[in-house]
Amino acid sequence: MGATKLAANPGFSAGLEGVTAARSGLCSIDGQQGRLYYLGYSIEELAQYSSFEEVCFLLWRRRFPTASELKALKKRFVECRALPEEIAPHIERLPKDAAPMGVLRTLASLLCNLDKNQDNGVAANEERAVRMTAQFPTMMAAFHRLRRGQKAVAPHPSLDHAANFLYMLSGSQPTKDEARLMDVALILHADHEMNASTFSSLVTASTLSDLYSAVVSGIGTLKGPLHGGANEEVLKMIDAIGDASKVEAYVRESFRAKKYRIMGFGHRIYKTVDPRARVFKEYARNVVAGTDSERLFNINVRLEEVMQAQVGSKGIYANVDLYSGLVYQALGIPPDLFTPIFAIARVAGWTAHVLEYWQENRLFRPNAEYVGPEPRSYEPVEKRRQDYSKA
Ligand code: SDX
Repeated sequence: MGATKLAANPGFSAGLEGVTAARSGLCSIDGQQGRLYYLGYSIEELAQYSSFEEVCFLLWRRRFPTASELKALKKRFVECRALPEEIAPHIERLPKDAAPMGVLRTLASLLCNLDKNQDNGVAANEERAVRMTAQFPTMMAAFHRLRRGQKAVAPHPSLDHAANFLYMLSGSQPTKDEARLMDVALILHADHEMNASTFSSLVTASTLSDLYSAVVSGIGTLKGPLHGGANEEVLKMIDAIGDASKVEAYVRESFRAKKYRIMGFGHRIYKTVDPRARVFKEYARNVVAGTDSERLFNINVRLEEVMQAQVGSKGIYANVDLYSGLVYQALGIPPDLFTPIFAIARVAGWTAHVLEYWQENRLFRPNAEYVGPEPRSYEPVEKRRQDYSKA
């Protein structure tokens, strides 16, 4: 992997569509076949057999941990989960109606201010990655409970990462199935090649800024509804549709009005069903069985059928956000925490890509194709038009 300089300018591509911005050995996607791999391991097998802690090690060190290494990483996560004492007062002072993704962005910045270690070597930055990954769930759970007038729940010393997050949210230990559901959700969201938030983290890191700033860039980017924010929008959409029998009219009206994209569908890379959507769909099917949410699940299934008929030919299919919200809702998680869960997982991918990129760092500085006025002389104010409102 070397930073090869391009001979010719590849030319303009809106949203850098089709442009290769970096070389990476972490994650590969086959958009035509709907396949996703972390270092060659399929997302289906990782979801079935691995754990989020094991996937973090895989991404940071580019190999699976030995049993003792996995035990050591889990121990580090437990040791790092509790927030620095300076953070708690800030969480208490945040507006109760603050957007959780904005809260996470603020608190991640605060971690940077508290880190006095000037060492910017690989080991020190790996340690920062472990600490952020361990602490983000604690931050989100503490904010969530405080905004509801409840006391924050201290991290549990013997629960794994996913189970501990659910425990800190609710104050009671999750069942094994609930913990497994959350663990799979974190695995599915841990990385995804050069997505917008990872690219944003890399642009920041390429200036040799710090790892916290790179992650804060990623959080701010993930917040947008075209990226991480879609999972929350999907639940609002299926609530608004109300019943599977109304899906076709809803989609037809949306396309007719050209008012906005159908959330949970479409992807820059996948031109078939996102493999993560397939995994989430089966988990969602099981958790809603026999509950009122089965109605919402059936709306999603009908949406897939109608969208396939309408835009399947354009390669627009279900993405990771279509079913994830139903799983989180079944875990008792409110919609405005859905995207923070995405961030809690993706911090592993953001930091792994930065650690990798720093091995052969090169400043990101693309061109802009200039389409403005030709060079011209200065116009004194008295010689200018005095009214541009009718321009
Ligand atoms: C994630 O990149 C990643 O890897 C991201 C992600 C990750 O793990 O990091 O996978 C996570 O972000 C999943 C995507 C979540 N977002 C949504 O569900 C929002 C809805 N989806 C769309 O906004 C859209 O599909 C994007 C943003 C995801 C991708 O859009 P592109 O590649 O920029 O495609 P486009 O907007 O240029 O659309 C191309 C065509 C257009 O039709 P035409 O104008 O050419 O006729 O496809 C149509 C679009 O109208 N289209 C849709 C659609 N998505 C694209 N039409 C209806 N509904 C949609 N959802």
